[in-house]
Amino acid sequence: MRISKDRISFSIIGLGGRSRAYLNALKELFAGKFEVSAIAEPDKEKRENAAKEFDIPSRNVFESDLALMEKPRLSDVAVIGTQDGLHYREATALIGKGYDLILEKPISSNINEITSLYECYKKHPGVTVAVCHVLRYSKFFNKLKEIIDSERLGKVVSIAHNENIGYYHYAHSYVRGPWNNSETSGPLIMTKSCHDMDILLYLLGDKRAKTISSVGSLSFFCEKNYNAETMAEKCINCPQKDVCAYSAVRIYGTKKIKSIVFDMSSVEKINESLGNNKYGRCVFKCDNNVCDHQSSSILFDDGVTATFSLSAFTAKVNRSIKIMCEYGEIRGIEKPYIIETTDFRTDKTTVIDLDIAEGGHGGADKDFIKTFMDKYVQSLPMESSLDKSIESHVMALFAEKSRLNGGQVQNVEEFMRNIG
Ligand SMILES: NC(=O)c1ccc[n+]([C@@H]2O[C@H](COP(=O)([O-])OP(=O)(O)OC[C@H]3O[C@@H](n4cnc5c(N)ncnc54)[C@H](O)[C@@H]3O)[C@@H](O)[C@H]2O)c1
Repeated sequence: MRISKDRISFSIIGLGGRSRAYLNALKELFAGKFEVSAIAEPDKEKRENAAKEFDIPSRNVFESDLALMEKPRLSDVAVIGTQDGLHYREATALIGKGYDLILEKPISSNINEITSLYECYKKHPGVTVAVCHVLRYSKFFNKLKEIIDSERLGKVVSIAHNENIGYYHYAHSYVRGPWNNSETSGPLIMTKSCHDMDILLYLLGDKRAKTISSVGSLSFFCEKNYNAETMAEKCINCPQKDVCAYSAVRIYGTKKIKSIVFDMSSVEKINESLGNNKYGRCVFKCDNNVCDHQSSSILFDDGVTATFSLSAFTAKVNRSIKIMCEYGEIRGIEKPYIIETTDFRTDKTTVIDLDIAEGGHGGADKDFIKTFMDKYVQSLPMESSLDKSIESHVMALFAEKSRLNGGQVQNVEEFMRNIG
């Protein structure tokens, strides 16, 4: 429920990469129509710079989420852009105070927290929660959905979907970085792919997931592949540093990773940092435990099936999908964003080049903010509301449960029915 009269006001909880992407989109698309009234961010430099940039009164500048959450509601909307483990405590507290939320995914990696947050949300029917399943707003997936919904190739029978993580992106985020350990963040299928579960639900419209099963493991990025005689624990000291595919010296030195997590301003700075930060570690000597490949099988209503494969071992960082319909096939690939359809009745193949300029998630970060602002002023619900996002999170957690239980089939439908 909106409280401000003219400009929509925001509180920022955690000003990292994601919150910054949303603020940039607001500045570009809605200058003069929004304001930042409060910020909670432990990093002094980020906090003080943002206070200056958005002219935030000092009484509303906080060093932590907890300090902001003690205060009465300070804005229309709170953006929860902290790391995964804080989302639940922040979302429950802020919903309780009446904030509308832009909530980063995953909402939690714990099934009890997910159901408890859903209960909390149901108790506050006036509150809007937009989960950042930004792919629902991307031109690529919107186009795929438009083709499916037109039924010009008949109804969907099955889907084969792939999340190609990319070998260097995997090494950065899931071996050395913040999502490398299920104890501190969550299982890979949740942290990386609650988006993919969500996009399958989005594409299939009103079809619900019935069951899910999954297999996979951490097979390569483990200590068994470390050879103390030919390798070193820090890439900068390693004899393989110029030839190893996963060498931090090569990955960061060639700027394959664009997100800035340490001083990457020059090759000298990179090499200096790699000697003393976690991103300089050998990929076979880290504290990682999440899968490096995993395949899941899902049964939806009306017998529709989907397979979903996520893998570290890909050259490109993208998604690719094949949607098999009664009278034709739809193939989609990102970066460049191409959709091909083949109609079995005519054997005619049509190619659609979406010509999407790069930008966060192929422009979807911006489209998400645009949709949020448009809907918010009209009090209309978002495509990725909290209630619509629960099922994808349950699917991801049940896939992980299946994987840990030898691929045993898990009943998503029953669980969803029980939580209403
Ligand atoms: N929607 C998407 O497509 C997408 C993509 C990538 C990441 N994510 C998710 O977005 C979230 C944020 O990711 P990021 O890459 O921006 O992370 P980040 O690490 O860049 O930012 C997190 C920020 O939170 C701050 N913070 C830490 N503790 C805090 C506290 N107690 N109170 C307030 N702030 C605190 C940190 O200092 C940091 O600035 C993660 O949950 C991640 O999984 C979503």
